[in-house]
Amino acid sequence: MKFYNVCAVVLAFAVTSCGSPIKKVIKDHVRNAEVQVKALAAASDNGSEVKIPYSYQNGQIKFVGKSAWTSGFFAGTLWEMYALTGDKTFADYAKRQTENLEEIKFLTSHHDIGFMMNSSYGGALQYAPDLVDQKAYKEVLIQSAKSLCTRFHPGAGIIQSWNTSAKWLCPVIIDNMMNLELLFKATQFSGDSTYWKVAVSHADKTIQNHFRPDYSTYHVVDYDPETGEIRARQTAQGYADESAWARGQSWGLYGFTMAYRFTKDPRYLSQAEKIADFLLTNKTMPEDLVPFWDFNCPDIPNTYKEVTCASIMASAFCELYSITGKQVYLDSADKIIESLAKPEYRAAQGENGNFILMHSCGSVPGGSDVDVPLNYADYYLLEALLRRQKL
Ligand code: GLY
Repeated sequence: MKFYNVCAVVLAFAVTSCGSPIKKVIKDHVRNAEVQVKALAAASDNGSEVKIPYSYQNGQIKFVGKSAWTSGFFAGTLWEMYALTGDKTFADYAKRQTENLEEIKFLTSHHDIGFMMNSSYGGALQYAPDLVDQKAYKEVLIQSAKSLCTRFHPGAGIIQSWNTSAKWLCPVIIDNMMNLELLFKATQFSGDSTYWKVAVSHADKTIQNHFRPDYSTYHVVDYDPETGEIRARQTAQGYADESAWARGQSWGLYGFTMAYRFTKDPRYLSQAEKIADFLLTNKTMPEDLVPFWDFNCPDIPNTYKEVTCASIMASAFCELYSITGKQVYLDSADKIIESLAKPEYRAAQGENGNFILMHSCGSVPGGSDVDVPLNYADYYLLEALLRRQKL
């Protein structure tokens, strides 16, 4: 037997006896997350009061109020942990965290109700439908979709993200693509196509107005709400108006992949793939596929990494692979999942306030939540693991 044949046999034996390398990494992630998330859940729920953890800074867990845009991710994380482990303890915590948010179904003061309710109530229906009152949970989601649609401007064809300010009349941010999942589901649950039509209109306008020729996305587009005329294209969380804020690119990638999942509209798939191409061929993208916080930050590589962006990409790439079968997306998802298992990004057990991942950035220009753990980094990592397991 030639040397390379021997090597091939040894390698095949190693793979079959230990499982594929990515399976081992996923198993290791889950074992670690079991300890971290359970401890964080216990620190956030003493049986009489539920608090919503979103970060860990200066030696303290930071909690948010129900109306914060991040309020649904911890409930979602707990549902994901239940799906990954089958441990009912996670489902019990998840149910309490989820139902704690019920009143949010009437929230109309910003667009993030899609993030909040789809990760919590939507997560329950996705991962543990037999453990919840499905009819009641669907009704919460339908009401939430109704609340989101109060922000739709038919003349402009978009859902307003933030309220009018001194700077913007009717700002729409790329993140808003993520809220459309709630609308698609509301139509599926209710049979009322209104929500679906709003989602499609918003996605179409986003393709039309949010992207540059290289398929990087602006963060904020300010519209005239009556006519749809563009007043400005700017940033809030990026380095500059003309820069590519990292998380925004991943919201676009995930958002258009998700929009394709529901509509099967090839334009949405094409948009997602063009965004993927921008991300994967970007000259500032590090080899480990964990980007810096803005692709155009002049301080790269001496600036912050943005782990939420990597988690969101990993999850989106799993879905993009399941749709297209293109190996590059699977390889990219695996690379990120592997990178995020390293001590560079993943905290040791018992550290980091029991959040799984370190080094995310909420808003670098705003000086808030910079280089810290954030609950949505963990949420999208666990979603990526669940999606990857299925492939
Ligand atoms: N949707 C808010 C953010 O990504 O920071």
